[in-house]
Amino acid sequence: MQASESDVLNIGRVLNDSARPLKERFRALFTLRNIGGAVAINQIHACFKDESVLLKHELAYCLGQMQDPLAISILSSILENLSQEPMVRHEAGEALGAIGEYNVIPLLEKYSNDSVPEVAETCELALCRLRWLESNSNREDSRKNPYSTVDPAPSAEITDVDALKEILLDQSKSLFDRYRAMFSLRNLGTAESILALTKGLETGSALFKHEVAFVLGQLQEEASVPALRASLENTNENEMVRHECAEALGSIATPECYEILNKYLNDSKRVVRESCIIALDMCEYENSAEFQYANTLAKLPCTV
Ligand SMILES: [Fe+2]
Ligand SMILES: [Fe+2]
Repeated sequence: MQASESDVLNIGRVLNDSARPLKERFRALFTLRNIGGAVAINQIHACFKDESVLLKHELAYCLGQMQDPLAISILSSILENLSQEPMVRHEAGEALGAIGEYNVIPLLEKYSNDSVPEVAETCELALCRLRWLESNSNREDSRKNPYSTVDPAPSAEITDVDALKEILLDQSKSLFDRYRAMFSLRNLGTAESILALTKGLETGSALFKHEVAFVLGQLQEEASVPALRASLENTNENEMVRHECAEALGSIATPECYEILNKYLNDSKRVVRESCIIALDMCEYENSAEFQYANTLAKLPCTV
């Protein structure tokens, strides 16, 4: 995308203006992500002082998806900053894996022992991805995913749904292998594979379940609404999982999704409330002529 420096700075001002509606700030963020380059990255960096965990985790997600090594020092300092919330530090760790530079391996090794499980598991996954890339440098392109996102793990080589489902739900298997099965099930995109994925919302760590919800959001299939709804409605569920379910419902955008999301606009957890605001904005766009919104946002859900 061609944009002058003053355009980028103007968009950065929207992103960094806490008086602006959250949905406008998200749109500014995704525009900066698409523009790319040092000025856009600096504008995104400035926003990490914000109070919205949802917005900050999305900043980190976007920096990872941009795959620009210029963001490595920013993401490293976010991962190391214990005053940043777990969801934000998790996304910084994942983004460091997404950029794909091997010099972050020592840092990821250190934080794969973090006391916060979501952070430790993310860093372990990012390490597995980097090691996989190192030994499969010529193979990544052959199994590119159809969603234009940089996944935290490559898809598995197996294509049998039952075998993939078994790996997905087997808590004795490594998280990396379970993620690989998850992305294969997503890429298959059949009614059977989507149903298998929904079972992932019932088992495993918060990190695992939030990724299942994210993938279901990418698939945008109505068949996953009951499972996403059940997790969002479960107020005992981890807020990171509930957040991702809300955004997935936003990208599916059926009348039922509107109804559910409206119900949780006043949830006791800020990150869930804000996710519902953004998800309802996604619903609007999915049902308007501006279909590019979800694709532009990609992870807005998370699109994280
Ligand atoms: Fe997220
Ligand atoms: Fe995430």
